[in-house]
Amino acid sequence: MELAVRCQNLQKRYGDVVAVDGLSFEVRRGECYGLLGPNGAGKTTTIEILEGLLAPDGGDVEVLGRRWKTDEQELRQRLGVQLQETQFTDKLTVEETIRLFRSFYHRGKTIDELLGLVELEGKRGSWVVKLSGGQKQRLSIACALAGDPDLLFLDEPTTGLDPQSRRQLWNVLTRFRESGGTVLLTTHYMDEAQTLCDRVAIVDHGHVIAEDTPKALIASLGAPKVVVHEGTLEDVFMSLTGRHLREA
Ligand SMILES: Nc1ncnc2c1ncn2[C@@H]1O[C@H](COP(=O)(O)OP(=O)(O)O)[C@@H](O)[C@H]1O
Ligand SMILES: [Mg+2]
Repeated sequence: MELAVRCQNLQKRYGDVVAVDGLSFEVRRGECYGLLGPNGAGKTTTIEILEGLLAPDGGDVEVLGRRWKTDEQELRQRLGVQLQETQFTDKLTVEETIRLFRSFYHRGKTIDELLGLVELEGKRGSWVVKLSGGQKQRLSIACALAGDPDLLFLDEPTTGLDPQSRRQLWNVLTRFRESGGTVLLTTHYMDEAQTLCDRVAIVDHGHVIAEDTPKALIASLGAPKVVVHEGTLEDVFMSLTGRHLREA
């Protein structure tokens, strides 16, 4: 089976803080894979290592069968990246921003296709600083898709979005996958993981504590027996990671 991501025994510390502690998982080609975990679990650190933005302290990473050390140029062309917090240049318009990102790639979609994909045609000439949160998030997806990537990384793509923008993003991802794309995302929304992800890993304290299809996780660990509704992925998540708040 062809793998999009192979992540083995990944380690990363910041001083005394162990952010990633022996984390392993694999993402298959064409799959949508979710990393779920409380704040501070190590999701962003992991995804940034896979994106080639951070160097790990230990472990082994292969992306699209390539390695960052030897194949960075090729990988950059084949990946789409949406960071947890994207800072755009305020004094560029939406169209100029997309044009800039498109210029980083040898091949890719046209500016009109990208604007259409995220329904920002009407905002083509607007300053980025004037966009709403949902519109900015859609712009960052358009930029991540500019090079027609084989693999898309999304770090909390829908945090803080209104329900309409969330659904719109889900549609974009569905279309991306229909065209053969692979997705690795993090999310705090269990319904989102349940809807979008073929498989999920629940991460805590820097390593994977459970991994399977949402359906199998619900069936195996499930909700406490007293719960009368059918178990959800959120029940599984809470029972594995506990109920105390994480503000890391
Ligand atoms: N640049 C950094 N310097 C120091 N500590 C960091 C840094 N980035 C993340 N951390 C710490 O590493 C741990 C994992 O963080 P992160 O990967 O952002 O988790 P998540 O995305 O799951 O919330 C947390 O304890 C966080 O405070
Ligand atoms: Mg994070």
